[in-house]
Amino acid sequence: MREQWGSSAGFVIATIGAAVGLGNIWRFAYVTGENGGAAFLLIYLGFVLVIGLPLMIAELTLGRRAGSDAIAAFEKGHESSVWRYAGWLGVIAAGLILSYYAVIAGWALRYVFGAATGGLWRSSGTGFGAYFEAFISHAFEPILWQAAMLAAAGLVVSAGIKGGIERINRWLMPALAMIVVLLAAFSVTLPGGTRGVAFILAPDWNAFSRPAVYLNALGQAFFSLGVGMAVFITYGSYLDRRTSIPRAAVAVAAGDTLFAILAGLAIFPAVFAFGGDPAAGPRLAFITLPQVFTQMPGGSVIGLVFFLLLAAAALTSMISLLEVPVSVVVHRTRRSRSRAVTIVTLAVFLAGLPSALSYGVLERWKIGGLPLLDLVDQATSNILLPLCGLACAVFVGWRLATATALADADLGSTRVGWVWWWLLRVVVPATIVLILLRSLAWL
Ligand code: PHE
Repeated sequence: MREQWGSSAGFVIATIGAAVGLGNIWRFAYVTGENGGAAFLLIYLGFVLVIGLPLMIAELTLGRRAGSDAIAAFEKGHESSVWRYAGWLGVIAAGLILSYYAVIAGWALRYVFGAATGGLWRSSGTGFGAYFEAFISHAFEPILWQAAMLAAAGLVVSAGIKGGIERINRWLMPALAMIVVLLAAFSVTLPGGTRGVAFILAPDWNAFSRPAVYLNALGQAFFSLGVGMAVFITYGSYLDRRTSIPRAAVAVAAGDTLFAILAGLAIFPAVFAFGGDPAAGPRLAFITLPQVFTQMPGGSVIGLVFFLLLAAAALTSMISLLEVPVSVVVHRTRRSRSRAVTIVTLAVFLAGLPSALSYGVLERWKIGGLPLLDLVDQATSNILLPLCGLACAVFVGWRLATATALADADLGSTRVGWVWWWLLRVVVPATIVLILLRSLAWL
């Protein structure tokens, strides 16, 4: 008998853990900052509802009906079809994302230690830019932290679905929720913090006329929810028939979005209160924020807590990404789970080395002007991920018999069911093709 989640609630919490990650804190903050704040947030919310949620339901449905790995999910009912390559694509996307995600998660862990030992705060004189640069350009240090994060994820995944993945999420996710609420409450009450609140809650209507804002919002919705990487197919495959997929998906999408908004409320008021630049880009979390923390009362404790939050949120997402290829290896080679974890973790570690070294030893190796880490990030987020999402929408919307799709998604022939089905058939593929074309033209 294949292992299953211990309970519906445990499954939902673990799935929120997969969705909530660097995307909600590090990426959400800087993308929102660069794209004008509240207007971006509104468009993002629209995409979560119209594209992300239907896709998440489709992925969970595919996973549960096959009860196997992500490749088998595309084979069920269509053996010997080319659809299995869609599954492979998802598995490769998950592995590639994990390879560089682990590197950034390692940066977060490095900052936890820097904040705890005080090394981070002592460098405020020379500026956090120099601190960050010195670290990411070091000959081997980034690799050590990358390896530490991967090892932690590997340990959890080898303990299995219920005893490993579900259990750690039950502990970590409530703690993360508490931390982000406290940080947000502290931040919005800072003198001058209201401008930061307005920045993400009061739209600047001009931003709606910039096409790039829509594309970035769509990319962010994909990445932050975690759709298009076979993660929900895999998590759905351990799900029983008693759990309602649409309800679970709504809880996950709502949880993910709420978390991102709270993280924004923790970050922007503080940035505005202390005169930081909200549009500082990817460096926002690692350079601008430490600067903000040093100016706050109790900032060294708050900074430590913030980076702990970042590292822990990253860990629960890494676990979900790791489980995707692990379940494939377990299923296809009949190896034990811990063997499979060792093999996959090692492969992902090696695949991530170029990313880890891309600002140091391999700094000169740029492709299309991009450092290797950024290249892998953009290629996976902008191309592989929408491709997998597209395949999933088309498979469920066009290949499965309509009645089967509706029944397997626990929707049946209801109004909501039909809305979901039509979104998957038309709106989701059309929108994805649009961004795909745009990102290819941009390459
Ligand atoms: N959604 C996660 C985040 O926001 C990243 C992720 C992507 C996790 C894909 C799982 C699958 O950081």
